Amino acid sequence: MKHYDFDTVIKRYGTGSYKWDEMTKVSNVGKDVIPFSVADMELVNPPEIIDGLKDFLNHSVLGYAQPTDAYINAVQNWILRRHNWKIEPEWIKDGPGVINAFFTAVKAFTKEGDGVMLMTPVYYPMYYAIERNNRVLVDNKLIVCGDHYEIDFDDFEQKAKDPNTKMLILCSPHNPTGRVWTNEELQRIGRICIDNNVIVVSDEIHNDIIMPGYKHTVFASICDDFAQNSITCTSPSKTFNIAGLQTANMIIPSKELRDIYWKEICTTEGNPKCNILGLEACRLAYEKCEEWLEQLIKLIDTNQKIVSDFVKKEFPQIKVFRLEGTYLLWMDFSELGIECRELSRILKEEAHLFFDDGYIFGEQGAGFERWNLACPTKYIYPALERLKTTLRRHI
Ligand SMILES: Cc1ncc(COP(=O)(O)O)c(C=O)c1O
Repeated sequence: MKHYDFDTVIKRYGTGSYKWDEMTKVSNVGKDVIPFSVADMELVNPPEIIDGLKDFLNHSVLGYAQPTDAYINAVQNWILRRHNWKIEPEWIKDGPGVINAFFTAVKAFTKEGDGVMLMTPVYYPMYYAIERNNRVLVDNKLIVCGDHYEIDFDDFEQKAKDPNTKMLILCSPHNPTGRVWTNEELQRIGRICIDNNVIVVSDEIHNDIIMPGYKHTVFASICDDFAQNSITCTSPSKTFNIAGLQTANMIIPSKELRDIYWKEICTTEGNPKCNILGLEACRLAYEKCEEWLEQLIKLIDTNQKIVSDFVKKEFPQIKVFRLEGTYLLWMDFSELGIECRELSRILKEEAHLFFDDGYIFGEQGAGFERWNLACPTKYIYPALERLKTTLRRHI
């Protein structure tokens, strides 16, 4: 078995990395500090992607692109192999990203004033898709149960029944809580949505990164009714650390929904085209990088255990949520009694710990932090020591 490099960090100062640039704006951090915020990875890409892209560049012209048969096959095979869902070529609509896709879906399938449901706290651009398009947030708050969140189905059903609620943006697996919804939970969600004419946009960008012992179910794969009432957003970007290549695949089995979605894209974007290198990287990833992914999952699982064990021992007041999927660990610091913006300042400026502050994911996230664990394990230990020393000074 090939042993991949999950140890080297490429320092991204001044390379146009959003995450690193934001960190250096906040604080003059030392050169050994790596950020744990924005969801890309401090890991080198799979060599199969880098070498494959170099080879492609040596033999190609960078003109306008469209998906090749090999690309479509790679996407179909990946989804079948990893997610047990057989999709048809015409269901796939490639696009520049999943955020772009749920913004498009909101505009395509709802009108101003319509309600769009989110299960909160949740990935913050989902709120923007609602607010910036003058739709109304239908807030189904998740409930904390011990070390994980559960769905308040009574509230969900009541809100879905409101005739003004037209869409659910489902985050599955769920960012930031780390939940991988069970098949039973998804069945209940799907049935309520069908009964109440609520269309489901299932953002499954994290669906390849599932921790041992958990199983992800693609919402649309549960039954044809769900498939016909949904759009599934997938992407190799989180899984293989290629977010900068802006390539995603939306799977839309219903011809009616597909046509409406595509019309919206053609209206707003004028000339939708894809990124030739993004397409090639996606094909390479899905064809050649499965073993890399298996090793990545082990790394994330190791990192989450180290953080969980340390925090439970040193700071039992901080609640670490169970990581079922994604590489984003959700932690509740609120029992420390430090105001959330002050907590953020202390962590960043004093501890040089750059997490994502929980309040950006909605009001229930105040006092929480989201730790991006996709980095070499050796960076976790000093970060924990900095956390310990700094917090001890404040509590
Ligand atoms: C749930 C979720 N959806 C979408 C995205 C971003 O997708 P894209 O870069 O394809 O727009 C992220 C990135 O963190 C995410 O966590």
